[in-house]
Order: sequence, then structure tokens, then C-alpha cells
Amino acid sequence: MNKSPWIFLGVLFALSLSWWGMVYGPASQANNLSPELGAGDPLRPRVGLAKQGEQVYRENGCYYCHTRAATGGTFGYEIQITQLGDDRQLNAEAVDQHGKYSEKSVFQKAYSYKAVAKAADALKAEQDKKPEEWDEEKIQDANATLISTIGLSNDIFRGEAEDVNLVAYGVSGVNFEKDLLAQLGLPAEMNTNQVRLIKEASFPVTDGSQSWEDIEGTIQKLKDKAGAQYKLQPVAKKWPDVQKGARRQSVSRDFLFDEHVMVGVMRLGPDLSSQGSFIAPLDKNGFPVNTLEADNKFYKHLYDPQWDGQSSHMPPFRYLFKERILGKNEQVVSGEIEIEKKDSYRVAITPTAKARALLEYMKSLRNDKELPEAPLVIERKQASAE
Ligand code: HEC
Repeated sequence: MNKSPWIFLGVLFALSLSWWGMVYGPASQANNLSPELGAGDPLRPRVGLAKQGEQVYRENGCYYCHTRAATGGTFGYEIQITQLGDDRQLNAEAVDQHGKYSEKSVFQKAYSYKAVAKAADALKAEQDKKPEEWDEEKIQDANATLISTIGLSNDIFRGEAEDVNLVAYGVSGVNFEKDLLAQLGLPAEMNTNQVRLIKEASFPVTDGSQSWEDIEGTIQKLKDKAGAQYKLQPVAKKWPDVQKGARRQSVSRDFLFDEHVMVGVMRLGPDLSSQGSFIAPLDKNGFPVNTLEADNKFYKHLYDPQWDGQSSHMPPFRYLFKERILGKNEQVVSGEIEIEKKDSYRVAITPTAKARALLEYMKSLRNDKELPEAPLVIERKQASAE
């Protein structure tokens, strides 16, 4: 019998199998991976001026004196409840492991809202029935709850800041009709700010000094028994860079798209990893806000780090500007920036393409977006014990 077709098929099968296992499989998995993982706010390669600015940064040796690496340290956790579970008793037990959080008005009020929602539902269920099937007792109970809670919210919580009410409403997870909202002292018509407060509502039940071991038990209780939803906010413990305004530590991913990785070796000047957030801070929707004022401040500093009379060890980079000495009553024209140094000079400067590129590069240095391996941390000036 001629076995060659079988041998041929066998070899073909073996080869295809190894191609499938070693080429196709890994490729199809790896193709879905992307370096841009930043919690929906990906790090993107620099483009345009910012990319050119990287070269200007390099050719001027800024990296001799500046680092681009915010250092980290240890952090504690703040547990933030975003939605409370139904059982008040269990939730109170879970949140009270690190203090008396169930005595806070957000907690108490959230459960009054839950009670109101339950009573309103019960009432509605009865009203949907025919009148002869109404259960008088249930209706009375529900009405009593409604009246007492509404009374309660008017008495006990009167004078409470509206924010607290909205946060409590948010974490209670209930949804009221307009007339009920008004009766409970909540705004019946909400503006975008109020809607956001409710959507992002959370309240802390630890003070941020606890390590993972300290809170593990609480997390388990919240999740398994109490049925609450929460998030964990890392709180930095004395990170010098965070104290100076960085939002997280720098990690390798921050340098992924750099043509030349200029981490820096020495901090003669301050770390620049969060410089973008200083020049163009994010607005509440997460978009950088550029202002002429902040841009000009950077330019003036680059032109003469001592222009405002402060001493500085940074050299002036005047050759990155066109300059024109201003006469006594002469004004700057559009596009020029006026710098007046006390008892010294008064000039109009125009940034060259290189200076403008450098500014864009500075703005691209930011660590105000979260990465999976580097969560945003906050700083507590003083851990509050309450
Ligand atoms: C010889 C060292 C040295 C070099 C080179 C240098 N700097 Fe600086 N830089 C400093 C020092 C010191 C400070 C802090 C004092 C000050 O604010 O002027 C500083 C401050 C800064 C600041 C203000 C940072 C802040 O958060 O207050 C920026 C921005 C800056 N430098 C950018 C640059 C750029 C861009 C270059 C390259 C064109 C550069 N530096 C080159 C030493 C240097």
C-alpha cells in the first residue's frame, strides 16, 4: 500500500497544528492588547508640536536638571460607599468597623430615603388594586412611614447642606418621583451639577490610613453580607511628589511613546512629570484647560527664570525667543509678551517655534490620569479620626 498520501497529510496536519498553536493563537490574543490601557483615558503617542518639543527638551539638556519621574511610596485605603445595601443593621455593622460611620447623617438619611421608597412602593401596589381588595392595614403602615420620615427629614436634617442630602439620595440608590422629591426637601428640578453629585455620590467609611489587611474584613462584610457597593481610594502616606501636586507615581508606561526616554538623573530643578497639570489643569470633565496666562508664565520663566525677582539656578533660554527692547511708552503688539524686570529691563518677547513646541511638550507631561498599575492617589493633610 502506498502510504505517502497519509505521510503527507500527517506532516501537513502537524505543521498546521503548530502554526495554529504558535502563530495564530498568540497573534490573535496579542492583537487585542493595546498599550493604551489608562481606564478609558489612554496614554497616546505625542503628535505635532508636543512631539517636536521632545527634541527641544533633549537638545537643550533640560533633563540634566529635571526628572520626569514622580516617585511613589506606601498608601492606605479609603473605602467609599457608593451604594448602601438594603439591610440597615448589616450595613451599619460593616461600616462601623473603623469608626462611628453609621451615625453620620449621610448614612441615616440614606436609610430614611430607602424607607420612604419602600413605603411609596407598598402604597402604589395597594392603589393598583381594586378598592374592595385594599389592605387597610398596609396602607396605614405605609402612610405612617411616609409621614414620619418626611417629618423626620424636615426636623432632624433641617439646615443640612443640600450636598449632604444629594449624596445621601445617591448612595441610597432609590429613585423618587418629582412630588416626593419636593416633599423630602430635595430639588424637584435638578441642574447638571446636582445630577452629577447624585451620580458620583459616595461617602468614606475609613480615614485612608488603613492598609489592605486592616480593611479586608470590612470589604468582605460589605460585599457578602451587606450587599453594598463601594470603591477604594488609595491615600498617599507622605509622598513628597504628591504633596507637590503629582497625582500618581510614574511608571514605565508613561515612557512608552517617547522617542528618547529622558527620565532624568538629578533633581536640580523640580520634577516635571506633572508639569502639564500645572500649566493646563483638567476641568471637571477631564479636559485640559489652556489659558494664555499660564502659557505666558511658562514663556517668561523660560526666557528669564529670575524675571520676577526670584532667585533661580535655572539658566535663561533667551535664544528660544525673539526679543525687542521696549521704549519708555512703547506697547507690545499682538503675539508679543511683555516682561518687565524691576530695575532692569522691559522687553517684548515672541516665542519661536522651538519655545512653542517646548510648551506643548510640557503640557503633555501629566500624571492626572489613572493607569492600572498606578492608581491616582490623594493626599490627606491630616487623617481625620471621625
Ligand atoms: C541647570 C539646571 C537646569 C536646567 C538645564 C533647566 N532647568 Fe528648569 N529649573 C531649574 C531649577 C533649579 C528650577 C527651580 C527654580 C525655578 O523655578 O526657576 C527650575 C524650574 C523649572 C520649571 C518650573 C517648575 C515648577 O514646577 O515650578 C520649569 C517648567 C522648567 N524648569 C523647565 C525647564 C526646561 C523646559 C528646561 C530646558 C529648556 C529647563 N527647565 C532646564 C534648573 C534647570
